[in-house]
Amino acid sequence: LTVKSTNIQEVDHLLNATARAWRNGHHGAVIWFTGLSGAGKSTLAMRAEQRLFQRGFQTYVLDGDNVRHGLNSDLGFAPADRAENIRRVGEVASLFANAGLIVITSFISPYRADRERVRKAAGAAFHEIYIKADLSVCEQRDPKGLYRKARAGVIPEFTGISAPYEPPESPELVVDTSRRSVEECLEDIMNYVEAHIALR
Ligand code: PPS
Repeated sequence: LTVKSTNIQEVDHLLNATARAWRNGHHGAVIWFTGLSGAGKSTLAMRAEQRLFQRGFQTYVLDGDNVRHGLNSDLGFAPADRAENIRRVGEVASLFANAGLIVITSFISPYRADRERVRKAAGAAFHEIYIKADLSVCEQRDPKGLYRKARAGVIPEFTGISAPYEPPESPELVVDTSRRSVEECLEDIMNYVEAHIALR
């Protein structure tokens, strides 16, 4: 990334991550969901957010469809647009994590390189969770009728049909929604958070 503005100097915070973590009872974190459309990212993200909140944690979900209505309304689905989508979301999520929150991001994020760039930028706070479901299962679910439209050629560059999806090679956690119930998947996610992000 090239920084275009000149004469800028970063200012240090007087609070550090440890102080925020002690008050919140958990580390700041970016829990990065990746997976096909219809794999269950949004459902699990919203349910996990609710569960984390009930546990007393500070949490917020950034979801593809929502963010594309606002911050990223200028972006489409060409590879460069998806890359910029993921870059911006990564920046926002990292800021939220620095503020002490457990951020769950719910984006297809189909390109490995885009996700790895976020991992590098977010450092130890980054946790990749692969929300896994076979394409055939997602296509059968087709909750928004998008696969049907993609097959009919109405939606171009649709992930899994006419655009690629590159599954993660070493995610921190894999949640298989075609073989396990929503509740079981949620338990896996909560167990991960308790083991790696919670302090008490
Ligand atoms: S990406 O690839 O990470 O930039 O995509 P994301 O921001 O998650 O947005 C995915 C949602 O946009 C809708 N949609 C499409 N998805 C994939 N390919 C194409 N061409 C496309 N066009 C629209 C779709 O509703 C996706 O939502 P989910 O929740 O994943 O089904």
